Amino acid sequence: MPSLDQALRAALHNRHELLAELHQQGTDCYRLFHGSQEGAGGLTIDRYGPQLLVQSFHQSLSRDELLQLAEECQASLGTQLLLVYNDRSQGNSRIDRSDPVYQAEPAALEDLIGHEWGLNYRVRGRHAGQDPLLFLDLRNARGWLKAHSADKSVLNLFAYTCGVGLSAAAGGASEVVNLDFAEGNLAVGRENGQLNPQLQAMQFVQSDYFPAIRQLAGLPINARRGQKLPHYPRLEQRQFDLVLLDPPAWAKSAFGTVDLLRDYQSLLKPAILATAADGVLICCNNLAKVALADWREQVLRCAEKLGRPVRDWQVLAPAADFPSQDGQPPLKTLILQF
Ligand SMILES: C[S@@+](CC[C@H](N)C(=O)[O-])C[C@H]1O[C@@H](n2cnc3c(N)ncnc32)[C@H](O)[C@@H]1O
Repeated sequence: MPSLDQALRAALHNRHELLAELHQQGTDCYRLFHGSQEGAGGLTIDRYGPQLLVQSFHQSLSRDELLQLAEECQASLGTQLLLVYNDRSQGNSRIDRSDPVYQAEPAALEDLIGHEWGLNYRVRGRHAGQDPLLFLDLRNARGWLKAHSADKSVLNLFAYTCGVGLSAAAGGASEVVNLDFAEGNLAVGRENGQLNPQLQAMQFVQSDYFPAIRQLAGLPINARRGQKLPHYPRLEQRQFDLVLLDPPAWAKSAFGTVDLLRDYQSLLKPAILATAADGVLICCNNLAKVALADWREQVLRCAEKLGRPVRDWQVLAPAADFPSQDGQPPLKTLILQF
């Protein structure tokens, strides 16, 4: 078993070419160390522009270990970074904000800017949520969107901080609609828009997924028996040229349950109906225990049953900063061409 230090050195060595490529394309947000896949379960190290974000999910690092890892990364990149350590090993992956191991310098916790595909993104080491403001394993999907959005109407579902929407806007989309129920996440999406003032303005819809997508798809919204539904914004039925569906693994609301293991179909079906006849739907499943082949069959069958067979499909894998020894990365992305 290699030491942590050896494992990190190998990880940095393996990224040499990738990082040169990423820097060339205007990206300074990427993963430097990917947990068990590179020899240390529950440890991730990410660069977000000027910031180095170390996160531990299984066991805390000691201060010496942390500082040594940070030193190794900075030496390899040839640049000084602002260190933030988010220890999430204590329960429910929540950050231990008492910081017994290491307290970040104030400058590291300021509002910073990172870059991906030449775009500016808000970077914040600490905020109300637990996860960083940009999910790095979706970079290739954002790149695809940027390359294929010219003159397209784009719907970004479960938008989080609207990185997909921003990429589509940068690709020349005619219209970008970001949808999420969390106002705090959309607020960061708005900031991301403001950080890229040259782009066309995006739209933001704060709504639960189920009533929003069912209205767009022209499907009824059913209340559970005897229950009154909370308020939801009214939307007209319509379709988009490009739709991105990237839901969380599990989430429950008054309108329904997002459950990527047991019920992908109730998410997928209305999303297909909201995709134009010759449009493209990019759908994701980030649950590690769902195998790509099984999920793909389910997705293709669902489209077939709806009378919207897929003409062509393509798998988009995360980039090499998310290595997977068995070739089965947790984040699976399918591009469906109707
Ligand atoms: C895994 S993130 C999606 C990542 C995102 N697609 C991206 O590009 O970074 C999950 C998002 O889904 C939102 N969400 C969860 N359940 C929802 C629901 N029922 N309706 C609308 N948004 C929901 C959360 O607020 C969060 O922003």
